[in-house]
Amino acid sequence: MGLFKHEWPYYPVILFSNSQILKLPMIWHKIAESEQSINWQPNHMCLVEAGDKKVTIAQFNGQLFAFAHKCPHASGIMADGYINPAGQVTCPLHRYRFDMKNGRNTSGEGYYLKTYAVEKREDGIYVGWEDKGFWVSL
Ligand code: FES
Repeated sequence: MGLFKHEWPYYPVILFSNSQILKLPMIWHKIAESEQSINWQPNHMCLVEAGDKKVTIAQFNGQLFAFAHKCPHASGIMADGYINPAGQVTCPLHRYRFDMKNGRNTSGEGYYLKTYAVEKREDGIYVGWEDKGFWVSL
């Protein structure tokens, strides 16, 4: 099974019209040895490099979230924003708010913030996303 070079689980799925489901493989990147070793800013966010991406990591109510480095509206740096008491991240430039779990724009402007999977594992903190090269390797 050389095709499946990445670890399970495969979160994203493609649903075909004949109801077949194909789960896409995930690429995982270790970003820290532990949650405590992350260089958190006072706003409980930080910017990390994972593979070829810059990713914002956020901490809220004991959970970790991972999402895009830049705001989808006009590229505000999300790690320079703040997390409101409802657990939504607010962009520092024009104060659009986003749900950190699914990227939904909760202030109503219609944008979508790209989110990533994040996992706390025994050996560290990992960020993951679907393998876009999967189709090429079929
Ligand atoms: S750049 Fe983020 S709300 Fe405008």
